[in-house]
Amino acid sequence: MGHGHDTLFLAQLSDHVYAFDIQEKALVMTRKRLIDKSPKDNVTLIHDSHEHILTHIRSFKGVVFNLGYLPGDNKAIKTTKKTTINALSFASSCLNSFRFTILVVCLSGHEGGLEERHVESFSPR
Ligand SMILES: C[S@@+](CC[C@H](N)C(=O)[O-])C[C@H]1O[C@@H](n2cnc3c(N)ncnc32)[C@H](O)[C@@H]1O
Repeated sequence: MGHGHDTLFLAQLSDHVYAFDIQEKALVMTRKRLIDKSPKDNVTLIHDSHEHILTHIRSFKGVVFNLGYLPGDNKAIKTTKKTTINALSFASSCLNSFRFTILVVCLSGHEGGLEERHVESFSPR
């Protein structure tokens, strides 16, 4: 979720969006952005780590990651190599169509960012 920009963008393109963030403030900002700017009611906001994706949803056609920390906020609260590998592994095990999308955007200028960017492989679980 972060500030909700990507969630709003994807909601305009998709039937339904399930958006994750571990920070309550991201849910608050995203909810406000959707109320202000989206005519659709097609987003589920989930206050949990992206690595728990399969606890919440089992059927989806694509996943989009915008990794790192909340811009303008606490840089210590961020995605990590571990959570990202877990999330990619679990998500990819449920992408059962030949036409699916995994898009990963990785900020790498902060501490730990390069390590996360250099993830070379993951396996579906
Ligand atoms: C670069 S920001 C996302 C920006 C967002 N896509 C937007 O459009 O504004 C990264 C977000 O990941 C969140 N985050 C950190 N660790 C996470 C985790 N394990 N699971 C889900 N979100 C996490 C942070 O709280 C932060 O809001």
